[in-house]
Amino acid sequence: MKAAERARRKWDRAALGYDLMAGGAQERRWEAPKRALYRTMGQGRILFVALGTGLDIAHFPPGRDITGLDISPAMLKRAAPRIAAYSGRLQARVMDVGALDFPDAAFDQVFTACTFCSVPDPVRGLLELHRVLRPGGTLGLFEHTGSRCFPFNCLLDALTPLSRLVGPDLNRDTVGNVLRAGFDVESVEPHYLDIVKTIRARKPI
Ligand SMILES: C[S@@+](CC[C@H](N)C(=O)[O-])C[C@H]1O[C@@H](n2cnc3c(N)ncnc32)[C@H](O)[C@@H]1O
Repeated sequence: MKAAERARRKWDRAALGYDLMAGGAQERRWEAPKRALYRTMGQGRILFVALGTGLDIAHFPPGRDITGLDISPAMLKRAAPRIAAYSGRLQARVMDVGALDFPDAAFDQVFTACTFCSVPDPVRGLLELHRVLRPGGTLGLFEHTGSRCFPFNCLLDALTPLSRLVGPDLNRDTVGNVLRAGFDVESVEPHYLDIVKTIRARKPI
């Protein structure tokens, strides 16, 4: 079975319990940094990668033109009421970030949260985001990553083989992967002992 199909099945299975697991205390903790990131959504064409069950939508500024995607139809089905309630233009499509069905330079901005800890081939996905962003366009990520703080770095390495079975890898080098995909990294803001980061990057002109 291909990696993308395995990812789709894993997240389809996770959809039913996802809001219970991630929608309570965790989402309240993430609210301030997510809002700060999404506040930079402008008036152009926005791609939001991995809508999941739509927990991010409550933090989007109103009135934007957003195309959302997720590899899991079951996650998007649960997101439907949140998508319908958004006071702007928000359409969702089932799609693998590693094989985007959009032309080059189709978007002015790309955002995502808690995604590149999960996708099977993160650099391939980031290369696709690079392709569909216009030159000078921005990429904003809020991501689980490895930590630079001892002993959390060792803990995250130890937990990742288990966490990967049901959800994300906890120790990815996402800042390095963003650079590998050809972006300029403009800022990295650590949260919670550096296990989560806000990363702002730009496609060079
Ligand atoms: C941890 S959830 C995050 C969802 C949401 N952004 C949030 O913060 O609640 C990870 C999401 O990434 C999606 N995903 C995993 N691999 C993907 C891929 N290759 N392409 C698109 N979405 C993917 C999963 O279906 C899941 O909805």
